[in-house]
Amino acid sequence: MLGIAAIAAFWAASFNAYTYLAPLLASAGLTGGAVTLVLFATGLAAVTGNLLGGRAADRALAPTLLATPPPGARDGHDTARPLPRRGLPARRPRRPSARLGYGAMRLTGQPGNFGSYADPAVGIALLRRAYDPGVRFVDTARAYGPGHDEELPARAFDPWPDDLLVATKVGIDKDAPTSIVSDGRPEALAAHVRESLERLRRDSLDLVYLHRPDPSVPLEESVGALHAMREQGLVPHVGLSNVNAAHVTALLPLGPVAAVQNRYSVVDRDDDALVDALAAAGVAYVPYGPLGANPLVQGAPLAADRTLRRAAARLDATASQVAIAWLLRSAPNVMPVPGTTSAAHLEENVAAAALAADPTAAAGLDALR
Ligand SMILES: NC(=O)c1ccc[n+]([C@@H]2O[C@H](COP(=O)([O-])OP(=O)(O)OC[C@H]3O[C@@H](n4cnc5c(N)ncnc54)[C@H](OP(=O)(O)O)[C@@H]3O)[C@@H](O)[C@H]2O)c1
Repeated sequence: MLGIAAIAAFWAASFNAYTYLAPLLASAGLTGGAVTLVLFATGLAAVTGNLLGGRAADRALAPTLLATPPPGARDGHDTARPLPRRGLPARRPRRPSARLGYGAMRLTGQPGNFGSYADPAVGIALLRRAYDPGVRFVDTARAYGPGHDEELPARAFDPWPDDLLVATKVGIDKDAPTSIVSDGRPEALAAHVRESLERLRRDSLDLVYLHRPDPSVPLEESVGALHAMREQGLVPHVGLSNVNAAHVTALLPLGPVAAVQNRYSVVDRDDDALVDALAAAGVAYVPYGPLGANPLVQGAPLAADRTLRRAAARLDATASQVAIAWLLRSAPNVMPVPGTTSAAHLEENVAAAALAADPTAAAGLDALR
């Protein structure tokens, strides 16, 4: 709680909330006096540009991720309706389908997400299949494969569509299926970013997370290195993964953070307060393991969860859809990245966005809180 309070205090101390939030809210359809009213009425003096960024380029990602409906997406049913919960500011809702990404980690050798994917052509087809119905961001990492998981999206999308965001993570080396070795030294991170740029065949990466804190390197040094690369234009947006509220508080003075990625789902609720704090700041929160999976093991425990199955039966949906829809409804900054190697599961998961937006399903989903 102290960490969350510290984040709020830091934001409150920031003076540039209006400057940074006005464009964000305006992009959501609120202008002029309405923006002012909303800012004051909802206490958004506590919302800072520090997470949204100090420069235009730094601020661009959160509005893009949170507000832009995917062009051509068939989400007419995705009508605006509030996604309220625990103390959220009264902001315009974000379309659920625009917030559903694709987690590519499983498109690697198994077990352990190690080596190249068994059938790259199938993986490429799956990535393209995700883009077609409106998935507009792909989550990958240097550690997946390692490296192979960044090569596949580059092969699937050539040329890379302008409206498709890619997020990757640096700071982990992997030399065996179960070996995960943190390397958060600044020079290592610089090398990782260069390699990711090459593998993804991009001039810059939309969002780069520090995959996890390296206990042998001061966290400020690792994140400071990412900000140095941000200032060089290599990494337009910096993200943090596997961090807690205290980490976020300590890192805020170093520079803007566009997104936080942690384990979170309807049954993994440690980050409830952090999600809300970041929502109030308009910072994306990307929950991994949305279906409760062990990252190194195949299968989705929540697909078989009895409570979710009962809720799903009432909503004419599947338990996996309920788990994903619950996340999409939980806060307007939540952007789940369910991972799958199955076209049928992909279709099912994408359809969960419609469930999240369905007024009749809302009560059933909210009852799971
Ligand atoms: N930052 C981090 O430290 C971190 C850690 C782990 C993951 N991640 C990111 O988060 C993404 C998602 O995480 P995750 O893959 O571990 O967990 P997940 O999305 O909770 O679960 C994926 C597993 O669930 C299965 N599945 C997917 N959709 C299903 C459905 N509709 N019905 C039944 N089973 C279904 C998949 O099997 P099938 O292939 O058979 O569908 C796969 O084994 C990853 O791709 C990665 O990008 C980040």
